[in-house]
Amino acid sequence: MQQVAVTSAPVERVAEHKTVLMCRPEHFTVSYRINPWMHPEDPTDTSLAVQQWDDLYRIYLDLGFDVELIDPLPGLPDMVYAANGGFTLDGIAYGARFQYDERAAEGPAYMDWFRSHGFQVVEPVSVNEGEGDFLLVGERILAGTGFRSDAASHDELRRIYGREVVTLKLIDPAFYHLDTAIAVLDATNIAYLPKAFDEPSLEIIRDLYPDAVTVNDEDAAVLGLNSFSDGRNVVIASRAVGFEASLRERGYNPIGVDLSELLLGGGGVKCCTLELRR
Ligand code: ARG
Repeated sequence: MQQVAVTSAPVERVAEHKTVLMCRPEHFTVSYRINPWMHPEDPTDTSLAVQQWDDLYRIYLDLGFDVELIDPLPGLPDMVYAANGGFTLDGIAYGARFQYDERAAEGPAYMDWFRSHGFQVVEPVSVNEGEGDFLLVGERILAGTGFRSDAASHDELRRIYGREVVTLKLIDPAFYHLDTAIAVLDATNIAYLPKAFDEPSLEIIRDLYPDAVTVNDEDAAVLGLNSFSDGRNVVIASRAVGFEASLRERGYNPIGVDLSELLLGGGGVKCCTLELRR
């Protein structure tokens, strides 16, 4: 009689080449409060922010990514969070329209960059904060709403890209962008923070991703989910040790980075990273 092996071999995770856009935090500070992480009364250290950002930049270069840069503009301290600058797919950049006036000028600045770097730009009608709320998982776009991006922007996405767009509602103000509550690990796998979503959204997530990783409050509190994966290497907050262990168990290679200074603005690894898909 033939014996069936019960111990499955560890999954071999395959890295995909990535091209990303980043913005050096030369003008980073916290001078206003548009999320609960921000405390304008507390000091920030711009040179430390630049140093930590540089660590992330170097990790990406070491992973063989193509990293493109947009010039930081004075007076736009949140511009370092490039993920919010738009959403790109199929050579089309859907521009951002920010919820708060403090960041409004970033929308056109990023759109100018997309235009001069080979993208067809679609000007946004609805409020949306780009890849902060829109995450591509394989062929499907997960789209957040509740705090920043308007649900109407999800319809714009559907029209522009002709892909399945799944609307998910965020309910915890500390996890105000989808990329603070979901990490995309590869074309079929995600990690998420259950308490960040309303019940109908949770049902959708459980149904679509029954094997998803869930993270605990400690990992969430350092924006552990705000990470960037090439399908094998997952760059995460170094303090997210529980998430790190779960990733290892599943055959991924977690790489920790300390972006504590940028966390003061309410952002982490993914916020500093906009994927470019030409
Ligand atoms: N201070 C910024 C804001 O509140 C942080 C943005 C973080 N970006 C992100 N993709 N989650 O808009």
